[in-house]
Amino acid sequence: MKALTIVLFALLLGLPSVIAEQYRDFTAGMKACHESYHALADMPNKTGRQAIHHAERMASIYEDMIGFWRQRNAAAAKWAEQGKAALVVLAAAAYSGDSARANEAFATVGQTCKECHDARRVKLPDGHYEFKHQW
Ligand code: HEC
Repeated sequence: MKALTIVLFALLLGLPSVIAEQYRDFTAGMKACHESYHALADMPNKTGRQAIHHAERMASIYEDMIGFWRQRNAAAAKWAEQGKAALVVLAAAAYSGDSARANEAFATVGQTCKECHDARRVKLPDGHYEFKHQW
């Protein structure tokens, strides 16, 4: 019984730090998305090795985001899924050299950034961003 109490207590203490770490990972993912998004925006064709690299990097961040949002907000999880699907199309189009398809997929990805930010992100007075905590 005593052992069980100790285990439960340890879990309770540990939980906030697990959550804090998830949020830190999320913000790190956003920063990486920002870099890759702008790298792609600067490429008129969005094809070739660098375009594939950035599309795959974002696809893996979006994949993590799907799990993150499924526990918190269904609409945001849907935008993460749509963005992931568009990033897979973008990576394939970049690989096959199909610039029109790559540009179209990139525009879809950009919409998911905007939709989710409008719904789930707030700008603080100091210019930093935070989560809208209503889930
Ligand atoms: C499904 C939701 C969602 C999607 C999709 C999404 N974001 Fe975010 N983003 C957020 C939330 C919520 C925050 C605020 C929390 C934070 O800053 O970590 C944020 C914060 C950011 C920040 C600020 C990070 C910081 O320093 O605090 C940047 C930059 C960013 N997003 C870029 C992007 C880009 C670029 C895309 C699209 C390629 C994107 N995001 C897609 C939800 C999303």
